[in-house]
Amino acid sequence: MDKRKIILDCDPGHDDAVAITLAGINEKIDLLGITVVAGNQTLEKTSVNALNVCQCLGLDVPVYAGCGQPMIREKMVAADIHGETGLDGPVFEPLKKKLEDQHAVLYMIDTLMKSDGDITVVTTGPMTNLGMAMRLEPAIIPKIQEIVLMGGAYTNGNVTPAAEFNIIADADAAYVAFTSGRPITMVGLDVTRKALCYPSIVERMGKIGNKASKLFVDLMKHFCASQKAVFGWEGGPLHDPITIAYLIDPSILTTKPMHAEIDIRSTQSYGRTNCDYFGYQKKEPNANVGIDIDVEKFWDLVEDNLKKYS
Ligand code: BDR
Ligand code: CA
Repeated sequence: MDKRKIILDCDPGHDDAVAITLAGINEKIDLLGITVVAGNQTLEKTSVNALNVCQCLGLDVPVYAGCGQPMIREKMVAADIHGETGLDGPVFEPLKKKLEDQHAVLYMIDTLMKSDGDITVVTTGPMTNLGMAMRLEPAIIPKIQEIVLMGGAYTNGNVTPAAEFNIIADADAAYVAFTSGRPITMVGLDVTRKALCYPSIVERMGKIGNKASKLFVDLMKHFCASQKAVFGWEGGPLHDPITIAYLIDPSILTTKPMHAEIDIRSTQSYGRTNCDYFGYQKKEPNANVGIDIDVEKFWDLVEDNLKKYS
């Protein structure tokens, strides 16, 4: 079986941690490296979190720290959802796994330049590392097979009515990626808000009874409680792993080609992914935008993959 080669660029983050869990074990995915960015918390914290998740799951994947602040705007974090550490909830063993020496942006450039154009870049945090890599070495752009991102929304945002966190946290970087001309699959809030991790799901995954299911339960207890406090929902939307689930089984998502433009100019709608759902503008679509998700299939996939761990 041909494995899909990916670089997972993330800001763990509870849902990022579940994305790592799926990407690290599924036989259809070749997880080449994890690159980390500031987002849900500072770079120092998200880097430690990525290492902790890999160590806890026994994943032998190199982890590279990248950009600690957005391209232009001031840094923002999401401590209300992910806590002071960025991954509040699980208690990890003392950390032995170390970061690679190379900067994440340089790792991306090297890896893509040496490739045959068969690497997909998955981003589940602000797109700073990818945007910087594209600006530093534009020759990587044609080497990228596809960009699959969790971010944006053609309906409502979650930081402002217009904007979703990963995009507003570095809208300039998202602008660079969305204007790069490479194929983009946008997994936005429009679909991720349908994958609500209700207590019954947490209980179902907990029954698996291995290290991955324990991690999932410890993560989701904190994540779902903070989603309830902030948004009033019983179940937290498990955004980031849907990118990986989609690569494992594309039938999980229904997508629609649209022209999607990042708003980097307005005040009220800064960071909005303006998606031309109806094609009014007669512009060439630059993104396949997720419009629906087979929620049952998604939870089955999460369960199947948690079970693959010993
Ligand atoms: C996104 O923002 C982060 O808080 C989550 O990890 C996810 O990537 C959802 O808006
Ligand atoms: Ca994230």
